[in-house]
Amino acid sequence: MERYNGLIDKYRDRLPAGAGTKIVSLNEGNTPLIELETLPRLIRKNVRIYGKFEGLNPTGSFKDRGMTMAVTKAVESGAKAIICASTGNTSAAAAAYAARAGIACFVLIPEGKIALGKLSQAMMHGSVVIQIRGNFDDGMRLVQEVARTTPVNIVNSINPYRLQGQKTIAFEVIEALPDAPDYHALPVGNAGNITAHWIGYSEAVCENTRACAFCAGKCSFHRAKIATRRPIMLGYQASGAAPILRGRPVENPETVATAIRIGNPVSWQQAVAAQQESGGWFGECTDGEILHVQKLLAQTEGVFCEPASAISLAGVLKDLELGKIGEGSTIVCTLTGHGLKDPDTAIAQSAKPLTVDAERAEIERVIRENLKT
Ligand code: F0G
Repeated sequence: MERYNGLIDKYRDRLPAGAGTKIVSLNEGNTPLIELETLPRLIRKNVRIYGKFEGLNPTGSFKDRGMTMAVTKAVESGAKAIICASTGNTSAAAAAYAARAGIACFVLIPEGKIALGKLSQAMMHGSVVIQIRGNFDDGMRLVQEVARTTPVNIVNSINPYRLQGQKTIAFEVIEALPDAPDYHALPVGNAGNITAHWIGYSEAVCENTRACAFCAGKCSFHRAKIATRRPIMLGYQASGAAPILRGRPVENPETVATAIRIGNPVSWQQAVAAQQESGGWFGECTDGEILHVQKLLAQTEGVFCEPASAISLAGVLKDLELGKIGEGSTIVCTLTGHGLKDPDTAIAQSAKPLTVDAERAEIERVIRENLKT
């Protein structure tokens, strides 16, 4: 079998990378599609639910898919520095890929509002970490302003190469199932990822002659038709940061799912287009619902994702209960980031460790008290 060398190498014919392009990669992509075995039984529904576990990418989130493409193209164009605003994961990925490429990286993060693991990554990979007294939306505005006055290349998802890399998740889901699922659910923050999923699914049903809504026939990547259909797209936002559901920007977004603490998504219009074209919908979940499902997934399936990621499953469980998603459906939830990204939130909602004397009798007592009967 051929060695896996990352998603640009694998999908080069469907990505903007020529034969001469020098790829900057950490072997991202190729993440597992894990079928949830216990949850459908628990909720007594005849459905197949899969988690596409993006937490197993090199920096622990789906951002690596877009970053390999964005940094590859930045280096190809001669850029010496990249910049992004971030709620954490983009900064971790940008820092790692910049280190790999040997270029400078500047990241703007909202002070005190990013998870500890993500901050440690941006710092450890040697990026210049700029904490702003403001939120993600302020950071997004600032990077666009400074990109006009300084020699930095923006690697937020307004960089079209990011979405090109991220679309490959759809190809992987199709290969694993092996067709598009009935539903694909995911968290929506800055709304780039739902846009990228839809580009990928649209290209997957394209036969070269048919133009999808995004390329209007101009895209040269539509080749092999690898799926017979596209899924219904479900986008979920945290109740305290749900601009798309409210129909207007949220000035002071707040949620425990800091990754999606965003009030004015850059790809708002594209996300709505994906939802409408697919016949899908947006939904919201409270912080309580998000944390409950994050823990449920960790404790019933052994899959530890971060709070923002759990909203995809939380939303699906709610919509199954409401009957909006029917029996017999196949559903894929993108689990966008690893639970280890945010150890503070995990520890805060878990049972505290027991402290005992270093004696056999003590350990035996604890075992007896805690055995599952
Ligand atoms: N899940 C996680 C774990 C994320 O980090 C993000 C976005 C999303 C979901 C939402 O994806 O923005 O494409 O709609 N994180 C960005 C960041 C904003 O800076 O890391 P989206």
